[in-house]
Amino acid sequence: MPVTQNPTTPTSTAPAAQLVHDGSRHADAWWRSAVIYQIYPRSFADHDGDGMGDLVGITSRLPYLRDLGVDAVWLSPFYASPQADAGYDVSDYRAVDPLFGRLEDAKAMVARAHELGLRVIVDLVPNHTSDEHEWFRAALAAAPGSPERERYMFRDGKGPDGSEPPNNWESVFGGRAWTRVTEPDGSPGQWYLHLFDPKQPDLNWELPEVREEFESILRFWLDLGVDGFRVDVAHGLIKEAGLPDWDAELHLLGAGLKGESTDRRPPMWDQDGVHEVYESWRRILNSYNETGDSAGDRIMCAEAWVTPVERAARYVRETEFHQAFNFDFLETHWHADKLREVIRASYAANDSVGAPTTWVLSNHDVVRHASRLGLPIDQPRPNGIGAEDPQPDTELGLRRARAATTLMLALPGGAYIYQGEELGLPDHTTMPDEVRQDPTWERSGHTEKGRDGCRVPMPWEADRPGLGFGPSEQTWLPQPESYRALAADRQAGVPGSTLELYRRMLQVRRELGMGQGSLLLEESTGDVVRMVNDAREARVQVVANLGTDPVDLPDGAQVLVASGDLDGTRVPSDTAVWFTA
Ligand code: NOJ
Repeated sequence: MPVTQNPTTPTSTAPAAQLVHDGSRHADAWWRSAVIYQIYPRSFADHDGDGMGDLVGITSRLPYLRDLGVDAVWLSPFYASPQADAGYDVSDYRAVDPLFGRLEDAKAMVARAHELGLRVIVDLVPNHTSDEHEWFRAALAAAPGSPERERYMFRDGKGPDGSEPPNNWESVFGGRAWTRVTEPDGSPGQWYLHLFDPKQPDLNWELPEVREEFESILRFWLDLGVDGFRVDVAHGLIKEAGLPDWDAELHLLGAGLKGESTDRRPPMWDQDGVHEVYESWRRILNSYNETGDSAGDRIMCAEAWVTPVERAARYVRETEFHQAFNFDFLETHWHADKLREVIRASYAANDSVGAPTTWVLSNHDVVRHASRLGLPIDQPRPNGIGAEDPQPDTELGLRRARAATTLMLALPGGAYIYQGEELGLPDHTTMPDEVRQDPTWERSGHTEKGRDGCRVPMPWEADRPGLGFGPSEQTWLPQPESYRALAADRQAGVPGSTLELYRRMLQVRRELGMGQGSLLLEESTGDVVRMVNDAREARVQVVANLGTDPVDLPDGAQVLVASGDLDGTRVPSDTAVWFTA
């Protein structure tokens, strides 16, 4: 029964639990409480044996996701692309890259997912195209000042001969954010902006033609039957007028500040003008609404690395995105007080605009949480880990990752899980440098390993070549030996395995309506996070022990889920439990 009145409700675990989220105030739209599974198409399942995952492979493994108990899948890009940034460099937004199959395969995948009761979210990459997109080719062939150049961010260089870039911005992947072109007549020419790789020129979102084109792309995929979009770099489309210099390094994670505190917003991120774009997209999504529910059933989720949470909440106002990844939660270190604070602040900000909170711990851009949480707690998080770097404590990392997910999935709201985390996969932290493919590795001058370690092909069957990734032994990135023991077939049906833990949590969460629950959070409980999810069908208590001493469960506690073995009624260190009392 949801809590509606008393903001301070006593519980059996401690006297002062604060109501930090009132779940009864929201309509029951599916996306408010959905658990969505991120498929990284290159690495999920390979059907044709070329070592690269594909759409037919994905379709063949969808029953596994139905059995896991997720509500939807989100697929990273599978569109036509030179793959300079693993598909986030799109050359044709309406075509499937032959690496992954054909448009017919995408239709079949969506149809099969729907048959299995799974919704499908696709990726949309509006900030930049590939330099091999027909628009960019046309821009290069045309003259400065032409309508073709106007679609991108071309500028004259500085200095008498224009040989200096238009400003000092650096790219997220390292190196400068500008590249100079050679004009059709062979002379050194203008510069174009690329916040990421030079093969990803930024579009000019001030131009109506760019807006119209993306509205048409949205409709193309909605007509094909997809249930929504995850929007890449949603905070980057509009740049501050005049493109003023910016003296801090840019980062994919965080707001683009490094070791600096400043009140000024970076001129390339989170400009007020982006919201107009999303308001028009929301109107399009609403027009596809078949249930007549004004909350809508086709959705958009923002990838927006924006701080503070109050600014981030602007993206999930009723007229814009349905969801936005909660990266503050992902970035929080393994401290009970910091977790409590981020949970409290996230609900406060999202509830103020009537949006759900969307929890996440891993994705294809960060070190997997099974490895991240095995690193010393307060050290800065690396962008990839190499063989010569200090290695994470694998056992501790997995133990904490299981506890962190158990905490996360107890929280009302939506959640995203990243393929392979249900197997407890770590990053490949000893991958040879020669096989790295993330542009970050080259562009950072080999100072950042980049994201390949979290993108390794899935281990399905321990005794098959390539661990069952496909019919051949080929995999586009090598799998570490540790993946064999973690293969899905080694964990299915095995009590206590990470796969069975995830299945159990998703089942209990769904049956009890925990995604729609209210949350009471106890303050000042030291190294232990204690909370109550007052869900539709039960009052679920949660204890996450981040301290070193074991914690006793109350008498009569009925354990629903435990992230690790309990010592009788004692919850050991780095373990989380759901129970009723
Ligand atoms: C965010 C994506 O998640 C990441 O993988 C990509 O490199 C950048 N956006 C650029 O598109």
